[in-house]
Amino acid sequence: MTILDQYDPSLPLDLASTIPSSWYVDRELYDLELKTVFSNSWQLAGRLDQVSQPGQYVTTDIGGEPIVVVRGSDGVLRGFYNVCRHHAAAVMTDAEGKAAQLRCPYHGWTYSLEGELKGTPDFSGVCNFDRGSNGLASVQVGEWEQWVFVKLDESSAISLEEFLTTSLTAEIKEINLGELHWFERRHYQFDCNWKVFVDNYLDGGYHVPYLHKGLDSVLDYSNYMIENGERHCLQWSPLVTEGAEAQTGAVRQGDRALYYWIYPNFMINWYDGVMDTNLVVPRGVDQTEVIFDFYFPDVVSPEARERNAASVAVGQRIQDEDVAICKSVQRGLNSRAYTAGRLSVRREAGEHLFHRLLHADLSERLRR
Ligand code: FES
Ligand SMILES: [Fe+2]
Repeated sequence: MTILDQYDPSLPLDLASTIPSSWYVDRELYDLELKTVFSNSWQLAGRLDQVSQPGQYVTTDIGGEPIVVVRGSDGVLRGFYNVCRHHAAAVMTDAEGKAAQLRCPYHGWTYSLEGELKGTPDFSGVCNFDRGSNGLASVQVGEWEQWVFVKLDESSAISLEEFLTTSLTAEIKEINLGELHWFERRHYQFDCNWKVFVDNYLDGGYHVPYLHKGLDSVLDYSNYMIENGERHCLQWSPLVTEGAEAQTGAVRQGDRALYYWIYPNFMINWYDGVMDTNLVVPRGVDQTEVIFDFYFPDVVSPEARERNAASVAVGQRIQDEDVAICKSVQRGLNSRAYTAGRLSVRREAGEHLFHRLLHADLSERLRR
C-alpha cells in the first residue's frame, strides 16, 4: 500500500513529521488497522471482578469482532468469538452476566461454559455434522492487574507479559491499583479517527493550557515529563495546589499525575487515590468511541460516592473540551491544504513513538 511509504519511521524526533493525513481518512488503511494493530495487540476485554465466578461472562468487540470471555465450571477463564456456529448470531447479548450455559437467542443452540457445542434443537437427521468441531472458536486471554485482555491473532506468539514489558508492569505494581475499585463507566463519542484521540492524548500536555483551563490550574506544565517505553508512554506531571481552580483542585490531589498510554489504545490515568482508564474503540474511519472506567478506593460509603461523582464530573468536563477539537482536527485532516505536521521535541515524543509503532505493525502485515 503506497500510503505507508509516505511515512519515514527512521527520522529522529527533531526531523520527524506526523503520519500523513491520508492515514486518518483512508478506508482501506482503516480496515488494515483492524486486521493488524487491533489483532496483534493485547486488547482490554473487561475487568476481573466481572468474571470472578464460574459462569460469569463479559462481551465486547475487538477490531470489529464480537468476543465473549467466560469463566468455566473448572474456574478457568476462556475467550471465544461470540459468533454462533449455526448462523452466526451473537450467542451472548448482554454486556455482562452469569449463565449456566451459553445459549444462542436465535435458534437456541447451547454451548458449555468451556465453549463446546451441547444442544442443537431440531437437528436430527443432519448428516456429516461433527458436533465436536462446532464449538465456539477460541481467542487467547490474559490477566493483568484488575483486567482481562484478549488477543485475536494466533500467529504472533507474544504473551501479555511480553507485550506489556516488565518495566511497565513493575512501575504499575508500585502504584497499587489493587486498592482501587471500579465505580462507573461512561461512553464518549468522537467524530474523528481513533488516532486523532490518541494523538491528542499523547501531545505531552501541549494542548492543556489552551483547551483545559481547569486541568491546567493543577498541573505544573513546565515540569511535565514524557518517558517512552518499548510499547508505552508515560506522561507525568507534578501537581500544584496554589491557584488551583476550585472544582478541579478538590478532586485532583497528591504529588503527581501519571498518564500511561499502552499501545495502541489503552490509557491509565492516575492521581492519588483516583484512577480512570480509557479504551479507544474505532467505530468507523471517522468515528471513535472512548470508554472511560472510573475507579476509587471507596465506592461504598455515601460520602465517598459523592466525592467520586464530583471527580467523574471533572473528567467529563475535560472530555467535553476534547470532543470539539478532535472533530475540528478530523475536518482539517480531510483538507487538501494539509498533508502532515511537524512534532514538538519538548512535548510530542509520545506521538512519535505511536506513529512508528503503527508503521511497523501495518508494514509487517503487508510483508507477510
Ligand atoms: S444462529 Fe445461533 S442457533 Fe441459529
Ligand atoms: Fe485533552
